[in-house]
Amino acid sequence: MNKIAVVYHSAHGHTAFIAGEIAEGVAAQGDATVAVLKAEALIARPDELVAYDGLILGSPTYLGGVSGVFKTMMDATGGLWKRQELAGKLAAGFTVSSLPAGDKQSTLQSMFTFCMQHGMIWVGNAVLPEQHSGVAYDEASNRLGSWTGLMAQARHGAPSDAFPPGDSKGARLFGANFSRTLARVGRAQIVERVAA
Ligand SMILES: Cc1cc2nc3c(=O)[nH]c(=O)nc-3n(C[C@H](O)[C@H](O)[C@H](O)COP(=O)(O)O)c2cc1C
Repeated sequence: MNKIAVVYHSAHGHTAFIAGEIAEGVAAQGDATVAVLKAEALIARPDELVAYDGLILGSPTYLGGVSGVFKTMMDATGGLWKRQELAGKLAAGFTVSSLPAGDKQSTLQSMFTFCMQHGMIWVGNAVLPEQHSGVAYDEASNRLGSWTGLMAQARHGAPSDAFPPGDSKGARLFGANFSRTLARVGRAQIVERVAA
């Protein structure tokens, strides 16, 4: 079975909630095992990431970028970068912020660039915005319209699990799609890299 890690930072629980929904989507798909890892724990032992076939990265958007903790975790992977030990793995990103846009795109872009520097293979968000098919806006998957990665909106001051239902549903579909994609192409990519 493939091994997927959801690696996230969350100061107030919103990103943690979405990380859990994504992990449920992976588990429901049944193609992979899934571990949910805190970025702060990986800062001291980034080598743990090598054990996974696919990484789904998640951070709140803070001032238009990843949180400081998440960036510290990213920077702790410098040795892995030098040895290209993450190359060939599949990767995806998600972010949570309080505004509908909130500059979340910049956060996903920095995760994307990080993964490209590591030689990973980026998987976007393949779910179409369901409001276009008549689903009520709050109930719609990908209602915020992001294909680079998954975006979710935690309204200002709301409890950590008080997301519109569409964001939860979209997160589970995102996890399931990542797992399916890994099952389809991930193994082949990794074998190819080892052979080269
Ligand atoms: C320092 C700081 C910067 C923030 N910057 C943004 C921002 O640029 N855009 C936005 O929409 N929300 C911003 N927020 C709101 C957070 O993204 C939002 O509260 C998010 O749900 C926090 O995730 P967490 O509960 O997982 O920590 C910011 C919050 C903090 C504390």
